Amino acid sequence: MVGSGCFEDDFGRNVRVTKVDKCKKYKKTSYLWVFTKKNKIMIIEPRMRGFICLTAHPKGCEKNILNQIEFTKSQGPIDGAKKVLVIGASTGFGLASRITSAFGSNAATIGVFFEKAPAPGKTASPGWYNSAAFQEEAEKAGLYAKSINGDAFSTEVKNKTIELIKADLGKVDLVIYSLASPVRTNPVTGVLHRSVLKPIGNAFTNKTVDFHTGNVTDITIAPCTDEDIENTVAVMGGEDWEMWIDALTEADALADNALTIAYSYIGPSLTEAVYRKGTIGRAKDHLEATAFKISNKLDSIGGKAYVSVNKALVTQASSAIPVIPLYISLLYKKMKEKGVHEGCIEQIVRLFKERLYTGEAVPTDEKGRIRIDDLEMAEDIQAKVSELWEQATTETLPAIGDLNGYKSDFLNLFGFGFDGVDYQADVNEVVEIKGLV
Ligand code: NAI
Repeated sequence: MVGSGCFEDDFGRNVRVTKVDKCKKYKKTSYLWVFTKKNKIMIIEPRMRGFICLTAHPKGCEKNILNQIEFTKSQGPIDGAKKVLVIGASTGFGLASRITSAFGSNAATIGVFFEKAPAPGKTASPGWYNSAAFQEEAEKAGLYAKSINGDAFSTEVKNKTIELIKADLGKVDLVIYSLASPVRTNPVTGVLHRSVLKPIGNAFTNKTVDFHTGNVTDITIAPCTDEDIENTVAVMGGEDWEMWIDALTEADALADNALTIAYSYIGPSLTEAVYRKGTIGRAKDHLEATAFKISNKLDSIGGKAYVSVNKALVTQASSAIPVIPLYISLLYKKMKEKGVHEGCIEQIVRLFKERLYTGEAVPTDEKGRIRIDDLEMAEDIQAKVSELWEQATTETLPAIGDLNGYKSDFLNLFGFGFDGVDYQADVNEVVEIKGLV
């Protein structure tokens, strides 16, 4: 091909080409090369597959980190933990917890995550680029930060993390447990468990939206089997959290009065058949019960385990759950109108500042859970969302819901759609994470 302009390549992608004399046939990879006369430059665009985006933008992910750091600093210092382990530290609530600890409390942080590294011509997963940018900023700020990329469910990664804590920090005084994964291999039995998002007992039919097209349709989800429940609890319940705390305790890697926090969700009756009363809800029941078990074990060092119930937000984990994207679109609309909308970083800064580190007893509900979903669950918000739910169709959604807000948050997860990032500029996809052990 010779010439310049736009054309569609063999894989249906729109490719912009400038001053081309020669152009190799594109391989089926997640990037666009633009060939100029002398140089080959890399432009990365979003490539969607259902509820996943196959590409991520390093500069956009960096911008996401910078925005979150700026927000954290704008909220003033937090008298929080100084040595923090975050398990699930690269995206969503775990990433926000790491940023809040580092830039709110000047904490040394160790982050554990499971992300795909980049290769020439192949972008990394967004959590990789997020972590690279986090490390860079932590270094500039003179903060200790090291990261481990591997399967947190494995004994090997637990041991590696503990070795690092012992060598560099001695002990940690806060452990955030924020994993969201579809699978887990139990390190003791070797069994691979797959979690499912299904109702228990009866099939569940309700509305859902394809957030790419805005099409609102009915979806019916068949009920789960008993085995599905066991598997989902094995992946997303509290067993692995307890294993981490046991391993840290055994290695004497937890400081006196150490806290550990895991994240849960409750949500409204609209979503409960597929969430709180479904397979994932059973896993959350187990996680919440595990907090009491862990607290008992930490009694001798004055430590405590909490579950914090967080707000529904667009993350890679939540966009995979049917019905939830429609609920979030309506919820966002109402929360933004009322001026109470929050993202992960706003939620976690508030969790640290107004719940965990106030100098007073940590407030909990009757089930011992910290509630930072209070603004989402406010009666007026929920009443309005229920009303809108009845009206939601493909035609009405653009006006009554915040589908654009959903889409924009989804793109942001992968580093796309940020102001101040030149998405047409050449970008290096092969980014290293400093401090990766
Ligand atoms: P996310 O998908 O943004 O983050 C998951 C993190 O876990 C990433 O850092 C990822 O690298 C890491 N991870 C996954 N598998 C791993 C493995 N095998 N080894 C090491 N790291 C691994 O998820 P999100 O949404 O932040 O969820 C975190 C927790 O918050 C979950 O327990 C979720 O149920 C809970 N939550 C989420 C809500 C939401 O609306 N997104 C609402 C309330 C609670």
